[in-house]
Amino acid sequence: MSKQTISILDNTTARTTDLPVIEGTLGHPTVDIHALNSKLGYFTYDPGFASTASCKSAITYIDGEAGLLLHRGYPIDQLAEKSSFLEVAYLLMHSELPNQHELDTFVSEVKRYSIIHEKLRGFIDGFHYDAHPMAMMVGVVGSLSAFYHSELDMEDPEHRRISALRLLAKMPTIAAACHKHSIGEAFIYPREDLEYCENFLNMMFSRPSHQQFYIDQHHYLDPMAAKVLNLLFILHADHGQNASTSTVRLASSTGANPYACIAAGIAALWGPAHGGANEAVLSMLEDIGHPRRIPEFIKRAKDKNDSFKLMGFGHRVYKNFDPRATIIRQTCHTLLDNLACEDPLFDLAMELEEIALMDDYFIERKLYPNVDFYSGIIYKALRIPVNMFTVMFTLARTAGWVSHWLEFMSDPNRRISRPRQLYVGVGPRDYAPLDKR
Ligand code: CMC
Repeated sequence: MSKQTISILDNTTARTTDLPVIEGTLGHPTVDIHALNSKLGYFTYDPGFASTASCKSAITYIDGEAGLLLHRGYPIDQLAEKSSFLEVAYLLMHSELPNQHELDTFVSEVKRYSIIHEKLRGFIDGFHYDAHPMAMMVGVVGSLSAFYHSELDMEDPEHRRISALRLLAKMPTIAAACHKHSIGEAFIYPREDLEYCENFLNMMFSRPSHQQFYIDQHHYLDPMAAKVLNLLFILHADHGQNASTSTVRLASSTGANPYACIAAGIAALWGPAHGGANEAVLSMLEDIGHPRRIPEFIKRAKDKNDSFKLMGFGHRVYKNFDPRATIIRQTCHTLLDNLACEDPLFDLAMELEEIALMDDYFIERKLYPNVDFYSGIIYKALRIPVNMFTVMFTLARTAGWVSHWLEFMSDPNRRISRPRQLYVGVGPRDYAPLDKR
């Protein structure tokens, strides 16, 4: 362990203390401040966690300056090119890539758990037809905790593993069921003869009432669709301590039911600054409507008195480029070429990207297109409805959430997360009776 320390001098009292510096495997050295309060009587203030590591984790490494993203040490571009989503999910959960036997077992377990309890479908039916699918996801995934609570022993690693598997397996079934509910069509059961992404597409688009199966016995699904979905799921599978993953960890720190913790993550993901950005990008492109209106929207994005932001631009961590965006941008081109679909929104997005990247405001602030600038266009080409875009992100990020949950729950030193605050309210005062106020 490194003996490096950082000295803090309190200029008011002239007291000093040395705080240890912890070295991770990669990345910035990190000052361990947990004894600062007992030594000098100070807390630290870091809104948005700009400089604060909330935990130790061995799952994902991001170097924002270099545009580097590693899962368990493997670069994202290699995983994106060579692996499947379930293989990446296994890697995130188990630390190592699976051998063939391990992968086969994992895949068949995921298939086995993909069915949902018939009573759970009753929860979905309870929603109004125009409920946003993300609202349904928060509620329905949270309600899984009512189905798997009493028998759950969180100190048993096997119970934890099965909870994680169930979440990964049931998420596509629940997501597709929410979509079917919102368009008033019949629920489609998961099929064990299909791969993860194929099965999801089948549950989304099959219409048994009309004897139309998206994937019939001749397997007529465009292989490109499942392949592209697989890629998007890999790119969204995990991203370190992002807002939703941190929410899952924070909720888990109380020992709460894992299904409820993942529901908390889904709620955090929904916001437009996070996973909701993919839906917001598409709405923004539709609002812009024509390339000639781009300057007007760029002007608004730069105006401090206007709350409008260029959706799909900027990232807390990536300050040169988002490696996921680089991969997805290429796929976007290939997909639209292959599907021979001319999408004016894609051309509009390319023009917006070009103009923004030449603008001093965006250059100075290092604002580049992020992964969600492109993902919506791809989902649209795959005929995924716009209100399902963030749900797609949810499916993929479940792999990361459950991996962080597993990592956190197996940590013998885990503690409840309990941030401090800087109180800025009124000081102590006496209660005044009603007639004296
Ligand atoms: N459009 C216009 N200005 C922006 C944008 C944007 N998209 N993003 C940041 N800025 C400005 C911001 O106003 C600030 O300006 P100033 O220094 O003059 O005050 C400066 O750039 C620094 O931004 P910040 O707000 O300190 O950045 P942050 O790290 O707090 O926020 C972000 C990161 C992703 C929330 C933000 O860039 C944003 O809201 N982007 C649009 C939403 C989006 O695309 N989100 C998806 C993120 S990628 C998927 C995911 O991981 O969830």
